[in-house]
Amino acid sequence: TKERFSTLLLFGATGDLSRRMLLPSLYGLYADGLLPEDVTIIGTARSQLDDEQFREQAHEALREHLPEDFYAKDTADGFVERLSYQAIDATTIDGYQELASRIDLDKGLSIFLSVAPSLFKPTIENLKASGLAGPKVRLALEKPLGTDLESSKVINDAVATAFPEERTFRIDHYLGKETVQNLLALRFANSLFEPLWNASHIDHVQITVAEEVGLEDRAGYYDGAGAVRDMLQNHMLQLLALIAMEPPANYDPTSVREEKVKALKALRPMTEKLAKDEFVLGQYDGYLKELGEKSDTETFVALKAHVDNWRWAGVPFYLRHGKKLARRKTEVHIQFKCVPHSIFAGTGATTHPNELLISIQPEENIRLKMMAKRPGLDRKGIRLREVAMDVTMEGAFADYRRRIAYERLILDLVEGDPTLFVRRDEVEAQWEWIDGLRAAWEQAGMTPETYDAGSRGPDSAIGLVARDRREWND
Ligand code: BG6
Repeated sequence: TKERFSTLLLFGATGDLSRRMLLPSLYGLYADGLLPEDVTIIGTARSQLDDEQFREQAHEALREHLPEDFYAKDTADGFVERLSYQAIDATTIDGYQELASRIDLDKGLSIFLSVAPSLFKPTIENLKASGLAGPKVRLALEKPLGTDLESSKVINDAVATAFPEERTFRIDHYLGKETVQNLLALRFANSLFEPLWNASHIDHVQITVAEEVGLEDRAGYYDGAGAVRDMLQNHMLQLLALIAMEPPANYDPTSVREEKVKALKALRPMTEKLAKDEFVLGQYDGYLKELGEKSDTETFVALKAHVDNWRWAGVPFYLRHGKKLARRKTEVHIQFKCVPHSIFAGTGATTHPNELLISIQPEENIRLKMMAKRPGLDRKGIRLREVAMDVTMEGAFADYRRRIAYERLILDLVEGDPTLFVRRDEVEAQWEWIDGLRAAWEQAGMTPETYDAGSRGPDSAIGLVARDRREWND
């Protein structure tokens, strides 16, 4: 039920995500007057801090991480006044009781767990035992939600003992990005694309999430996860679901997520045989040195996915993601089919298929490529060339501030709208498919292929599409 809750409890408040994203997002919401007027934000973590020390730390984080032209000292002072702090050892009940005594549950409580997954279960048990899990409490969780289907079920079960599905908000921060939501607007607020959005007109789809960063300071987590579980299982499958899903009847939590889950369940399971042809793992050169030990963890993945339903029969979805690639870019590339017959063939002119390129980050634009006549008096009649129709979001919406994905998500949590959060059956469908993928590559005995840092990834990833006479959009 949509109702604004006034208290926000932030577990892991001194952590990296909190400093870089959550506090700056809360500041953004506060600065724009979007939080309830009587909002109170309670941070918790292990460190022994008093309210004042936490406020100072938070203020510091804002100064460090907010864009300069958005940070305002007065506003930040006002914002940190809303903060307080409670030191907590997540695994013992004591701190929780003290916490509970500070919270007026009638005003509603949103809890954000930005903690290691090993702490999910004890935290939830302690929240429940101290009365902080009633009908006016919502719980948001950050990934990783498990490492496979089974472990994700353990987490989901633990959550469900205290929080029913409608009060559980599983975060995939890609859904908080404006440009990701814009995929829905593009598809369902225009009549132009939807009639063409199927196997009759689309040749294939590419989804690229390329990063320049490597391990950063997360070796412990990352080496245990790898690119498939870190990015493919969640962000990339969500992008795929938004592109592949049927039109929901309404923009509401049930309609949207129902359609996404159907698309995810239509993904063809990977098999050992398919893995050999349609699946590539890579590891950047230098990873082992950074890590300081031997490891078969993949930092790159590329594959050909198939959505086995009427709409997408025979249309490959090429997905790729990697760390330490040439440049950071997230984009969706839709390639339409060639014209059925070229009337210009006799003139020697070639026609290229139309392409729709949706750049999600760092550029935010939509580009439609089409054929046009090249000006000139060619003797053979006509020469063709590709031209692009470009819409840059920055240009079209110059007056709007670029928001952090978490601003949307925190606001939706506080207001009780789970549309942009991942439902249990979605996350489980994602894991089921990923488990199949992992089993297939183990059976096939695959290990990652080394690629140069700063490159486009392993050669086999280029071969993966080249074999189908296609090319990555680079
Ligand atoms: C996180 C992954 O979920 O997403 C990181 O754990 C990755 O490895 C990050 O770098 C990418 O997010 P964004 O918003 O920078 O594209």
